[in-house]
Amino acid sequence: MKVDVLLGLQWGDEGKGKIVDVLTPDYDLISRFQGGPNAGHTLEFEGQKYVLRSVPSGIFQGGKINVIGNGVVLDPALFKQEIEGLEASGHNLAERLYVSKKAHLILPTHRLLDAAYESAKGSAKIGTTGKGIGPAYTDKVSRNGLRVGDILCNFEEKYKAAVARHKEILSHFDFEYDLESIEKDWFEGIEKLKTFQFIDSEFIINDILASGKKVLAEGAQGTMLDIDFGSYPFVTSSNTICAGACTGLGVSPKKIGEVYGIFKAYCTRVGSGPFPTELHNEEGDEMRRLGNEFGSVTGRPRRCGWIDLVALKYAVMINGVSQLIMMKSDVLDQFPIIKACVAYKVNGEETDEFPFDITEGVEPVYAELPGWKTDMTGMQSENEFPEEFNNYIDFLEDYLEVPVKIVSVGPDRAQTIIRYVE
Ligand code: GDP
Ligand code: IMO
Ligand code: MG
Repeated sequence: MKVDVLLGLQWGDEGKGKIVDVLTPDYDLISRFQGGPNAGHTLEFEGQKYVLRSVPSGIFQGGKINVIGNGVVLDPALFKQEIEGLEASGHNLAERLYVSKKAHLILPTHRLLDAAYESAKGSAKIGTTGKGIGPAYTDKVSRNGLRVGDILCNFEEKYKAAVARHKEILSHFDFEYDLESIEKDWFEGIEKLKTFQFIDSEFIINDILASGKKVLAEGAQGTMLDIDFGSYPFVTSSNTICAGACTGLGVSPKKIGEVYGIFKAYCTRVGSGPFPTELHNEEGDEMRRLGNEFGSVTGRPRRCGWIDLVALKYAVMINGVSQLIMMKSDVLDQFPIIKACVAYKVNGEETDEFPFDITEGVEPVYAELPGWKTDMTGMQSENEFPEEFNNYIDFLEDYLEVPVKIVSVGPDRAQTIIRYVE
């Protein structure tokens, strides 16, 4: 069998966690392949709400195997917090959550470096989640990182050498810190992490595929935050795109099956960086209020705007998306007019190709469609969709040339509609 990949097509927070949970019954193994606790994946069902950061979103449905893959960066302190939260609500994961030995560790000093780099950038700061993601991936690429498997061998020595190196870098910044207090939590986290099985996940995943079982790879962040193809430098430090699933799990590109591209019926972004369709008016405020657009990790208000089909089409191309999933359409339920950006005007010229730099001089060109003005949150089937809503989907499918197979009309697991009509 093949690995199906579910990934965000915008700037993150598209609703990946919810849909991974919905799709989990069809799979045997669910794995995160990149990112770390910068992710906040929200799931709601049976009146409960969970926000997952490093743990895959396949843990709630029927004893599936869940794997934290080699491409992930893991902070033991936050991992412990997350696991203890789940244990407190009755979810014991020891038997069904495995961690790749090759996943890199986020050290306490990575978090400090993240903060120091951000404050040194001043107004040009990225607006990171402050979780040490960039510095941890930097150490991985510069061949200085510590991996989960290192915990089993001469760990103290390796840890001390890494921290000494980080302290030396920190000494060049005007930045005060108290390492001891965060180190204590971190080492307690290491002990918690040791209660889980460390595995060679590339073998487990390929063996599972060879035995005819199905794997779902759960993306974090979104394509516009990808280190290569996102709105650089306002991006995260990993490959969030489909290709990242190959390197982040150790599977051949030939083994990739469906690519589920997930997007909101509008668009949001959290942190700094360009956002051509951002609304600085009441409509944007209304989207934020109705969509409850506040970061699930940091609580920061998310910037809101209309859907950007130029960026989405680019994301569809980069990822080879085979099925689209549209989220949060209910947020637009009462908008009389729905706008969709179909081109950019760059220096007076219209283009539908995503440009090298969208920082300045990009003006969105909009198509306007009538809103559906109907509460869709209780709908159970596509037969109930209002005509204007079907027209919006048709419009998106025509532009993106990929079918919309799932529509989400509310945060709950049950508010999910599969489309069967071609
Ligand atoms: P992720 O990071 O991609 O998993 O997404 P987040 O969990 O960060 O953000 C999505 C937010 O939207 C969460 O608060 C979800 O509970 C919520 N959500 C997901 N789907 C829908 C939907 O269809 N409608 C509404 N109103 N909220 C949704
Ligand atoms: P999920 O998986 C939305 C953003 C940050 C910042 C930039 C770099 O929940 O969709 P980082 O801490 O990664 O170095 O920050 O990326 N960012 C996210 N935005 N959703 C996320 O994850 C994000 N993870 C990082 O706000 O702009
Ligand atoms: Mg999120």
